[in-house]
Amino acid sequence: MTDLWNRLTSCRAAQGDARIDGLFDADPDRARGFSTQACGMVFDWSKTMIDAPARDLLLDLARGAGVEARREAMFAGEKINETEGRAVLHTALRNLDASVMVDGQDVMPEVRAIHDRMAEFARAVRDGSFAGAGGKITDVVNIGIGGSDLGPAMAVLALAPYHDGPRTHFVSNVDGADIADTLKGLDAATTLVVVASKTFTTIETMTNAQTARDWMAASVADPAAQFVALSSAVGKTGDFGIDQVRVFGFEDWVGGRYSVWGPIGLSVMLAVGPEAFDEFLAGGAQMDAHFREAPLQANLPVLLALTGIWHHQVCGYPTRAVLPYDNRLMRLPAYLQQLEMESNGKRVAMDGSELTVASGPVVWGEPGTNGQHAFYQLIHQGTTPVPCEFILAATGHEPDLAHHHILLAANCLAQAEALMRGRPLDEARALMAEKGLEGAEQDRQARHRVFPGNRPSTLLLIERLTPRALGAILALYEHRVFVEGVILGINSFDQWGVELGKELALKVEPLLTGEAMDGHDASTLRLAALIREMRG
Ligand code: F6P
Repeated sequence: MTDLWNRLTSCRAAQGDARIDGLFDADPDRARGFSTQACGMVFDWSKTMIDAPARDLLLDLARGAGVEARREAMFAGEKINETEGRAVLHTALRNLDASVMVDGQDVMPEVRAIHDRMAEFARAVRDGSFAGAGGKITDVVNIGIGGSDLGPAMAVLALAPYHDGPRTHFVSNVDGADIADTLKGLDAATTLVVVASKTFTTIETMTNAQTARDWMAASVADPAAQFVALSSAVGKTGDFGIDQVRVFGFEDWVGGRYSVWGPIGLSVMLAVGPEAFDEFLAGGAQMDAHFREAPLQANLPVLLALTGIWHHQVCGYPTRAVLPYDNRLMRLPAYLQQLEMESNGKRVAMDGSELTVASGPVVWGEPGTNGQHAFYQLIHQGTTPVPCEFILAATGHEPDLAHHHILLAANCLAQAEALMRGRPLDEARALMAEKGLEGAEQDRQARHRVFPGNRPSTLLLIERLTPRALGAILALYEHRVFVEGVILGINSFDQWGVELGKELALKVEPLLTGEAMDGHDASTLRLAALIREMRG
């Protein structure tokens, strides 16, 4: 592997001042040759500096890291999450016809039974046969955080055109403002509260769940009857008083950030209905089959991962922007932040040794065209290149507003082109000359209008943001994270880095209530004292 990393570094160095647009001049078929089509989508990675030698080395890197064997180990239920001794089988939640063995047992009959129970419950809520104290459920409040919030919140928004169930709200932050603002205006008697927590111990979720219960108890005789629990810790849901008929369990081989496909997706199912939810699962399953079967050089998740490795680990670009030109994918960057950074933000390899290459990059983004009027300035003219991952649907859901969609798509393509081409100094000078500027002033003004170009981007093009397409996109990104993790030799499925802050929060709390006055560093003690003072 070291040799391959070195060869990739040399390959990049040998490119010198070569430019992406030069690669198109040299290869008239580049637009087609460096783009891949499968699962109803096209992944265009031609506007990067990955040329044929770099592509071949990257594919060797994937092969050398054992991506294919590791992939099969994952699907076969082997305990590839080695630091937690767990299998990684969120894929089983969307491949309902499969048979998947864990510890010698087929887990699928139970997965199918829970899925069917969820569908039955969702239908009952949607048609009113399950009702609250005040009648048909009008509002669902999903209380969860991290993977128990980001996936369903993102998917409900993404699938807004299919939303024909109760209104759906999401509360995640322990900041009381979140739940207060959400519950304001809701009628407790027609509200269903969904407590989503794999562990059923997460302090934010349990605090919000208790507050929601108190709120409901103020006007509903049997508040627990309007609560649902989604969790792996089925025993703990009983302690909270939720009847087992409204508890939907899942196994520890479903990681929190990979859990939207099963019970944690209940609020999505309530919003769009079981049929549309199954379409979402089918899209994920289609991508799984592609990931398992397509050769590496035509494999979408592998190629998306390799562009990521090229830009971050080889070129050294510290971040990547995910830029969906689709307003309904507004929450996708936040979802991907957890998926990618909680999975691959690690500093040691599986065997505990320090990584010798950079781990995962910072992931960020906003939908286009909004981002264009905020941070694209830096992407075009800042000193640090930001590889951009554009996502675009060819068609929108608003036939009467097709002209909006054309404009949206034009902006997306134009941004990618501008990033690649840039604007050289002579062009900028000519523009200034047209405005009547001359000499030193012409030169000074022109320099501000130069775009260096040669800034990489990829584009994921889908036909339309349907439930199936959304499922395929999410599975694509999940497998991308997996492939990058295998290449880096890390465990993408644990998250020990979130523990220390959680532990310390419990120890800092007594400083704020005045029950403790020491045991922390001087800065923390002083800030806690100031907060006590300001609170009066
Ligand atoms: O942030 C850490 C984390 O464990 C995430 O991995 C998880 O998605 C989130 O907390 C919520 O956990 P739970 O579903 O157990 O409440």
